[in-house]
Amino acid sequence: MNKGLEKHGQTVAMVPSYVTGVPTGKEVGTFLALDLGGTNLRVCLIKLGSDGNISIKQQKYKVSETYKTGEARQLFDFLADCIDKFLAELNETDKRSSSKEGKLNLGFTFSFPVEQTAIDKGNLISWTKGFTCAGAVGKDVVFMLQEALNRKGVPVKVSALVNDTVGTLLAHAYKHPKTLLGVILGTGTNCAYFEKISNIKKLQFNSNAEHMIINLEWGSFDNEKKVLPITMFDNKLDRESNIPRFQIFEKMVSGMYLGEITRNVLLNLIDRKLIFDGISSKDFNTHYSFETAYLSTIEEDDSDTLENVRKILEEELNIPSTTLTDRKIVKRVCQIVGIRSARLSAAGLSAIISHCNVIETGCDIGIDGSLFEFYPAFEARIKNALREHFGSNADNINLGLARDGSGVGAALAAMLSVK
Ligand code: BG6
Ligand code: GLC
Repeated sequence: MNKGLEKHGQTVAMVPSYVTGVPTGKEVGTFLALDLGGTNLRVCLIKLGSDGNISIKQQKYKVSETYKTGEARQLFDFLADCIDKFLAELNETDKRSSSKEGKLNLGFTFSFPVEQTAIDKGNLISWTKGFTCAGAVGKDVVFMLQEALNRKGVPVKVSALVNDTVGTLLAHAYKHPKTLLGVILGTGTNCAYFEKISNIKKLQFNSNAEHMIINLEWGSFDNEKKVLPITMFDNKLDRESNIPRFQIFEKMVSGMYLGEITRNVLLNLIDRKLIFDGISSKDFNTHYSFETAYLSTIEEDDSDTLENVRKILEEELNIPSTTLTDRKIVKRVCQIVGIRSARLSAAGLSAIISHCNVIETGCDIGIDGSLFEFYPAFEARIKNALREHFGSNADNINLGLARDGSGVGAALAAMLSVK
């Protein structure tokens, strides 16, 4: 963290967000938000009411593999089309209230590493999480989105760029003023927190503000592979991924990868004839065929015969036959992979809590993402690990689900920037 605060281009990038204001909970207005980088693409219309109420209208869209891996221009045109479609379906009152001088302001949640140079400017450092679009790395993603909107004549101004962690932090802070960290534990993983501006040595920034939100990009922690206890199964996953030697921490923690790590472990056990009588299947040998959602189902199966585990292995993945012992072993492997992910997440949180020196005073942490929301016992496992690290002081740390928070956060950032 200290290296990244001092210099640009460090492994943990510590990206300044240019968000210095803390929401007071009294903000009002109507804003658009676009959210790219989680399971779904979302376009939202967010109304912050004077009574502290937030109302959200949103539409989710699937981003196809073609868009994820094609030309950047096509992806950004698709984003502009989704916004256009969303606006076309809004009623007149919503349209009027979100428009000032004919312009709609939009907060863009872009959940990828970006070297940000202003609240509405940031160059993509690299794609993560399976996106590989050509022609975007090194370019300003706000400019690319604005160009696409202009090309299609959509009357929208992109006024703020935020990472999903920054959005989640802002949205959680709107409701819980003691919020210090925003975390994503989903397809990818990352964290943002409030840092003293005087500590951000690499930043040239004239302002009276004392704090700025920093997006850690902790997914790339230990890309050098010097600190984490990396196994041969992690190395295999890394080698075979489209970004080898990058996002090493994320590859041990986040939802995109847990299934594949488990598959690698199980393949090893199969090859050693320790499970399934040494027999696998075509499906089992397909990359990423063991979905992370399977881990959740398997961990939740408490039946005597482990029937749901059997169904996944024999009916979904076409393993010819499994014994109860096989299924118990598979369940244990899933537990180990799941527990490791939660404990590594807790290690990351502990580092930031210690860096900010708030374990005595305590803080709130807003967390979003499918792993935190749906994986069985994920939160309890994080808490256990925090207790091991901080003892009873861990009770000063409040973890809270900030579901779909980054849309609201992007709207807040757009509002703070327009102010
Ligand atoms: C969403 C955010 O709520 O959570 C996304 O808006 C974020 O930007 C996502 O990436 C993380 O969850 P998942 O599980 O969809 O990756
Ligand atoms: C990846 C991205 C990061 C994002 C995280 C969670 O790590 O690089 O920007 O915050 O996923 O979505």
